[in-house]
Amino acid sequence: MLEQPLTLEPCARLPRTFEIGESEFLLDGRPILIRCGEIHFPRVPREYWRHRLKMCRALGLNAVCAYLFWNFHEWNEGCFDWSGQADAAEFCRMAQEEGLWVLLRPGPYACAEWEMGGLPWWLARRTDIVLRSTDPRFMAPALGYLHEVARVLTPLQVTRGGPILMVQVENEYGSYGDDSIYIGLLRDALVAGGFEVPTFACNPPQDLANGFRPDLFQVVNFGAGAARTAFAALREIQPTGPLMNGEYYPAWFDMWGRRHHVAAPAPIAAELEHMLENRHSFSIYMAHGGTSFGLWAGADRPFSPDTTSYDYDAPISEAGWITPKFDMIRRVAVRHLEAGERLPDPPEPKPVIEIPPILLNECAPLFSNLPAPVLDESPRPMEEYGHGRGAILYRTVLPAGPSATLTVKAAHDFTWAYIGGKPVGFMDRRRQSYRLELPARESATRLDLLVYAMGRVNFGKEVLDRKGIHGPVQLGGQELNGWEVFRLPLDLDPLHKLDFQAPASGPAFWRGSFELDSTGDSFLDMRPWGKGVVWVNGNMLGRYWQIGPAQTLYLPRPWLKVGRNEVVVLDLVGPRERVLVGLKEPILDDLRLHLDFPAPGRATGTFQPTEPLASAISSRETGWQHVGFGNPSRGRYLCFEIDPLAGAPGLVAELDAIAESGRSLSRDTWRVLWVSSEETNYEAGEAVNAIDGQTATSWRSERGALGPHRLVIDLGRSEMLTGARVLPAGDGAAPCGTGYRVYLSDEPYGLELPIESTCD
Ligand code: GLA
Ligand code: CA
Repeated sequence: MLEQPLTLEPCARLPRTFEIGESEFLLDGRPILIRCGEIHFPRVPREYWRHRLKMCRALGLNAVCAYLFWNFHEWNEGCFDWSGQADAAEFCRMAQEEGLWVLLRPGPYACAEWEMGGLPWWLARRTDIVLRSTDPRFMAPALGYLHEVARVLTPLQVTRGGPILMVQVENEYGSYGDDSIYIGLLRDALVAGGFEVPTFACNPPQDLANGFRPDLFQVVNFGAGAARTAFAALREIQPTGPLMNGEYYPAWFDMWGRRHHVAAPAPIAAELEHMLENRHSFSIYMAHGGTSFGLWAGADRPFSPDTTSYDYDAPISEAGWITPKFDMIRRVAVRHLEAGERLPDPPEPKPVIEIPPILLNECAPLFSNLPAPVLDESPRPMEEYGHGRGAILYRTVLPAGPSATLTVKAAHDFTWAYIGGKPVGFMDRRRQSYRLELPARESATRLDLLVYAMGRVNFGKEVLDRKGIHGPVQLGGQELNGWEVFRLPLDLDPLHKLDFQAPASGPAFWRGSFELDSTGDSFLDMRPWGKGVVWVNGNMLGRYWQIGPAQTLYLPRPWLKVGRNEVVVLDLVGPRERVLVGLKEPILDDLRLHLDFPAPGRATGTFQPTEPLASAISSRETGWQHVGFGNPSRGRYLCFEIDPLAGAPGLVAELDAIAESGRSLSRDTWRVLWVSSEETNYEAGEAVNAIDGQTATSWRSERGALGPHRLVIDLGRSEMLTGARVLPAGDGAAPCGTGYRVYLSDEPYGLELPIESTCD
């Protein structure tokens, strides 16, 4: 047989072998280094797939990692979609045509700042389902989905002449659980479905051992600066085989109301080069981030919704542009090509246009455009009404009466209350504020609770994120019964049913049109608007929010046309000006926190220590450090206190509370109550990074701040704990100072609580 090249030339379609060797990946028995980058085809308009794949190849990659998001293919149970924007097979074929191998990552759980981490919302209809486990209510549909994945994609394996080299099972499962039987069942399903290429798993370094199986090849995920310790940890658990990084972060994703993330290109390029020199394979996460169009953006833990832009400060920008990071990485790749390999030049950039001011003068108030309601005794989460996402309105009639406090157990995520159509209050899940004061009523009056759901949490236990009201709703301690419930599935193009009239106030759809002589990519400037979603010619661009940091929405050329175009905005708080313009550049870095809903809700005053429940000397080992409390103890306010090393900031990647079950507590109701010092300017080091579940982000004290550094977490309710654990940041050289103490109390250490957290 003719010897085939190691790179994938467009014509190579013969069956080949791909194996995990003693120290190298082997393609037809010959060593190959995988220079991979991640790209998510749902985050790129299909018309642009080829352009972005050409960009990946020109960046210097020889492979792309492709997640499949289960919920993108099975939004309604039992109805699979592999067409159009969901045509995974076509994406793989196109990658092959562009000279790229594919590492397939079908889940069933993915993460990726994607709605519910890729899990379908309807799993959350089963109230006590245990996601990502052998619970048959999860496993049966998960196996059904993997069966479909195999049907659609096994023909595209390398062994059958296709581009797929390996298939990943689950995603960073070790940071969630340790059941190797669960992982084994998923792996077996892929094999039974006909995948004959190697299967693999990825994990952050400290979680490699959880759920580990020798029959599943391991790769390790990490960000800048961690290669040395991460590969050492991988070698420890997997003594032979090539060393591969499964996700290498060239920067980070953005969340609403939080700093825009950027990372300098030089250290990234240098670390990639170091990996190449040592024959370590890698996958840049993200090579091209793209856009979480529609309602697909997820949310970080405990609840920090992600922006629509998934630019990621990746080497290929959101709109597919070359960046300084691109140039540097390409130069590195050029020095490490396989024998005979040539890198193509980047493709021509896509045209960009300005769109002159569009006035949106037609208005369809939300309240006069409601669908038919369903009736219910007491409000329940939206999944229980068969409603997946968007918004939901709960309506009842209140009797006459004095002013009183309205409470709900929880409302996900943002809730506006109206009495007789007039706004009277607001509840914000980020602050766990679930009560508001209702004014006195002289006669029976209509109460409306409008709940806007953002993306479901995509990471950790909190992915079981039911939206809408978690009842009961009480007024002055009395349950309110007899409700009308209006489902508002914003992604199902409700636009054609709207009745547009003259401008009015309150939550409303706004419509306008504009003419174009020629089309091009553009960035809609949302700065005059409040909070909501935008459609252009029926395509939902995504969510916007005046607080930033992203102030523009990417509008790709394929969604525009020469001639008349229509734009509709749903704004829940009302615009300042009813105008839109298209810019030639995105605005991703303009935080306007003064436009956020009221009060950050932190405690004030002076911290007064109590008796610590545990104290420990910081270990110099990498990985989690556990401290037990001696006796199980109860409390609502958990405090970590760290003695810094002289001159160095406190650095904590993650803090966890251990429940009596021995498992870590869900962080669903957690929030940062108070912190003595946090770095918000120089490097992203906000305190919430210690409870976001991401091992690559950390809380760090401000430069020069004196210790001890203290972080008080409100667990949301009094909890029985047996201990805590802390994950130091960085590579473990001098992690969280010299020592630390843990406190737990039902009293907030003498701090003054913000108003909304004084009730249970
Ligand atoms: C993890 C996940 C990815 C993504 C990154 C952060 O490592 O595996 O899917 O969520 O974090 O972008
Ligand atoms: Ca973190």
